[in-house]
Amino acid sequence: MPGKLVVGNWKMNGDLRRNDALLADLRVGWPVQAIRQIAVCVPFPYLWQAQAALSGSTIGWGAQTVSEYAHGAHTGEVAAGMIAEFGCRYVIVGHSERRASYGETDEMVAAKSSAALDAGMTPIVCVGESWAEREAGAGDTVVLRQLDAVVSRIGRRIAETVIAYEPVWAIGTGRSATPEQAQAVHEVLRKRLRKHEAAESVSLLYGGSVKAGNAKALFACADIDGGLIGGASLNVDEFLAIAGA
Ligand code: PGA
Repeated sequence: MPGKLVVGNWKMNGDLRRNDALLADLRVGWPVQAIRQIAVCVPFPYLWQAQAALSGSTIGWGAQTVSEYAHGAHTGEVAAGMIAEFGCRYVIVGHSERRASYGETDEMVAAKSSAALDAGMTPIVCVGESWAEREAGAGDTVVLRQLDAVVSRIGRRIAETVIAYEPVWAIGTGRSATPEQAQAVHEVLRKRLRKHEAAESVSLLYGGSVKAGNAKALFACADIDGGLIGGASLNVDEFLAIAGA
């Protein structure tokens, strides 16, 4: 059975003072015996802060992207080995904001997934179609192409990843996919993972306007193992309510 997991994606938000409060409240508010795993993916400069605040708790932390290179002349990039030094368990790769705004290709996302695994972390690989692609009936083709690109690079290690289905049209729009829409795509992804003997180990997360009000119905779906939460993860009460849904 894939693990149940809820991950907060802070995106480019936070400051030292607010993070302190948020991380402390999260630590106090999350029950130690919870069956679900939770984690927060924070901006690079705050990795040390997440590590300091969450070490010794059951809550994981991670980064939001990673370089595909191990070291060298890549000004401004951050290597997986550097991130791992801060105790990170997770790295988000291929978020649609990075694909759209920073030119990340399927091949780059695959290389980043490989780099994260090599450094001992779990890549949270994001896949998702645009509204136009969905309207054209190409949604499944797009997410499978994105998944296959990673498999062709890392092979059997796909079993060690987490996959997040995040329809581009649902991110930050307040317009979540319905449980039926999300489940349908998750089923397609699960089937493809089964071909790679990874269906039982890979947690499939849904992301895109998840709130306390819709989390329960989404997480109740057979192939939805949890969520990747953007905006709502910046509010501790909301995030904890989602994680406990
Ligand atoms: P959202 O973002 O929850 O704010 O829609 C999700 C994400 O981008 O990971």
